[in-house]
Amino acid sequence: MRKLLIAGNWKMHMLNHEAVGLARQLKVKLLGAHRVDVLVCPPFTALTAVAEILSDSDLHLGAQNLHDMRCGAYTGEVSGEMIRSAGGSWVLIGHSERRQLFGDSDAWTNRKLHAALEAGLRPVLCVGETLAERQAGRLDAVLARQLEAGLAGLSPAAAGTLTLAYEPVWAIGTGVVATPAQAQEAHAVVRRIVGGLLGSEVAASRQILYGGSVKPDNARQLLEQPDIDGALVGGASLKADEFSAIVLAGEGVVK
Ligand code: PGA
Repeated sequence: MRKLLIAGNWKMHMLNHEAVGLARQLKVKLLGAHRVDVLVCPPFTALTAVAEILSDSDLHLGAQNLHDMRCGAYTGEVSGEMIRSAGGSWVLIGHSERRQLFGDSDAWTNRKLHAALEAGLRPVLCVGETLAERQAGRLDAVLARQLEAGLAGLSPAAAGTLTLAYEPVWAIGTGVVATPAQAQEAHAVVRRIVGGLLGSEVAASRQILYGGSVKPDNARQLLEQPDIDGALVGGASLKADEFSAIVLAGEGVVK
């Protein structure tokens, strides 16, 4: 039985005082939510401030990206160790916005995954197809490519802290959500590919989050699918009421 994980990706939103306010609200609203794990990923600048707020709570804290080198002349970049020292213990890797807007290739994504594990961070590896790829019938091939390259060099033993996120690019920030059946189908494909790469035990134990326009009113149906183990939430994670409602939807799901 995989525990559900609801993760909030705050993207490039939230000034420090806003981030602190949101974290405070979430801490109070989610006090009783123990059946579901909760992760928030603020921008780098707010990590330390949010870490302080969440230090006496069960909510987990992560970053949205990292650089693959430990330190050096990489102006503007942030290493895994820096994230740890700011209080983060998780990190998103290979988000489609990184891939599309910032040139994060499959190979770089893979280096980031290894760097995250070396720094002791729990990586959330994001994969997903564009609308054109889906319409061309290439869903399985795209997921296979992203997972094979993204997980290259990872041993089954090292995959113990790995989380995956399936995020169809056409559903991110668009309000167009994958139907529960579409999402379930893609999650089953992801699990099968991970099984082929890392073995069936790893595939069965790893959480696969769905991301792309998850809202309070569609969360439950998605989370009820057998291979959907949580959600990676963008827009709705910026409002305490909406994000909490999604977490509470997860609390109500019996699998
Ligand atoms: P969205 O973003 O919920 O705003 O669609 C999801 C994501 O990008 O992780």
